[in-house]
Amino acid sequence: MIALRKEKELNLMVEANRVVGMVHRALKPLIKPGTTTKELDDVVEEVIRTHGAEPAFKGYRLNRSMVAYPAASCISINEQVVHGIPGNRRLMDGDIVGIDVGAKLRGYYGDQAITHVVGEISDREKELLKVTREALFKGIEQAVAGRRLSDICGAVQSWVEQFGFSVVRKFVGHGIGRKLHEDPAVPNCLPLDWDPRLRKGMVLAIEPMVNLGTHEVVVADDGWTASAADGLPSAHFEHVVAITHAEPWILTMFEEEINA
Ligand code: MF3
Ligand code: CO
Repeated sequence: MIALRKEKELNLMVEANRVVGMVHRALKPLIKPGTTTKELDDVVEEVIRTHGAEPAFKGYRLNRSMVAYPAASCISINEQVVHGIPGNRRLMDGDIVGIDVGAKLRGYYGDQAITHVVGEISDREKELLKVTREALFKGIEQAVAGRRLSDICGAVQSWVEQFGFSVVRKFVGHGIGRKLHEDPAVPNCLPLDWDPRLRKGMVLAIEPMVNLGTHEVVVADDGWTASAADGLPSAHFEHVVAITHAEPWILTMFEEEINA
């Protein structure tokens, strides 16, 4: 069953997502060579708690994993696709750094992922980041009442594949609201097992994960870190979007606001 959120609830979700945006803003100056991913995660937790919110990922268990997630953020570098666990690793020139943050505020969840660049990367890697971000917005464009979930998924997939990149199949976006993960799952490729019509009040976290090479991923012994099976780089961008009768309502903050 898909929950439909009232305007009052959506405004609370804007607040939860604003906390997540503030976290991304605080991280910005730390995205440079020498910073450890644990240092980043400490800032994530501190900013979340400063705003009276709780880290949504800490202690979280995916169905497919029996291990509780140990940190406030997921930080996935280069070939790591998602769910990288912060630790002693230092950012280096040429790294592609995906940072995913979730927060719970007054009973509602916020969730946003951004992929950053440290120093210089190759042109093909730049294209990977650009196309992944564009794919997210191609999906968002379809997030309008009356369309179907498959319109979002298909728009993301076709944008990515025309550039020769591949969408990750193993992980998906999701409904979000009073839980971090709600129905429906929002895959980044077709076909769907379930293709509900989009209705006003649905809230979706749309999050393309795009690999430069194969779509296949392998999960590390830590039970979480998912990497591209061929070791080639991966990118990830995520926004939370509410369905309305008119334009999609993006509840997450934009990079311009985050950089402000
Ligand atoms: N933001 C990711 C998602 O939307 C990460 C959640 S997994 C967690 O699914 F365990 F880290 F929470
Ligand atoms: Co998410």
